[in-house]
Amino acid sequence: MKNVNQTKFWQQRYENDSIQWDMGEVSPPLKRYIDQLPESAKDQAILVAGAGNAYEVGYLHEQGFNNVTLVDFAAAPIANFAKRYANFPKDQLICADFFELSAEQYRFDWALEQTFFCAINPERRDEYVEQMARLLKPKGKLVGLLFDKDFGNNHPPFGGNSETYQQRFQSHFNIEIMQPCYNSHPARLGSELFIKLQLQ
Ligand SMILES: C[S@@+](CC[C@H](N)C(=O)[O-])C[C@H]1O[C@@H](n2cnc3c(N)ncnc32)[C@H](O)[C@@H]1O
Repeated sequence: MKNVNQTKFWQQRYENDSIQWDMGEVSPPLKRYIDQLPESAKDQAILVAGAGNAYEVGYLHEQGFNNVTLVDFAAAPIANFAKRYANFPKDQLICADFFELSAEQYRFDWALEQTFFCAINPERRDEYVEQMARLLKPKGKLVGLLFDKDFGNNHPPFGGNSETYQQRFQSHFNIEIMQPCYNSHPARLGSELFIKLQLQ
């Protein structure tokens, strides 16, 4: 399962149009979350890692959030995004490995999680928590969706449940919200948790 750690695995999926996870639209609960944010949030530094075709980044940009950084280590979805949003700042499109981002260079007020955590090798989950904690400013937040479902261990998505996520995240985060998501996309209804975690 080590190949999910490699750019090539994901880049090929985009090249072969084998991207079953791609919803083709902003995830409804994340759209709802974004819609209720105050005007003052529009300057906040936001990270969307493993963003893929990045509908959430596109939506944030359309709503006037001006400091959103898209990170993915596959070049193809970033190129797709840049074509769709020609005026999106190029220095906020980062083709890099999330695990190698330097916290000296990048610090965010909050990060949006959408099918990235489930895409990494489960052995790297603690690393994800630690890296996310490093990349957030003090009291920064991690907001988004995690699968509330077991998909097996052979290939992504790799699922989980609230109990194991809580154990893992509470090393660095206070769990403000981790609850079944009531307004998921119909294809994911009943299989997602909405999370809002704050860095300790
Ligand atoms: C399952 S896809 C989800 C994409 C997008 N969030 C969505 O919901 O459509 C996982 C994405 O994470 C990216 N990815 C996986 N591991 C990564 C890493 N270590 N650093 C940066 N991106 C990574 C892949 O290239 C892929 O675009």
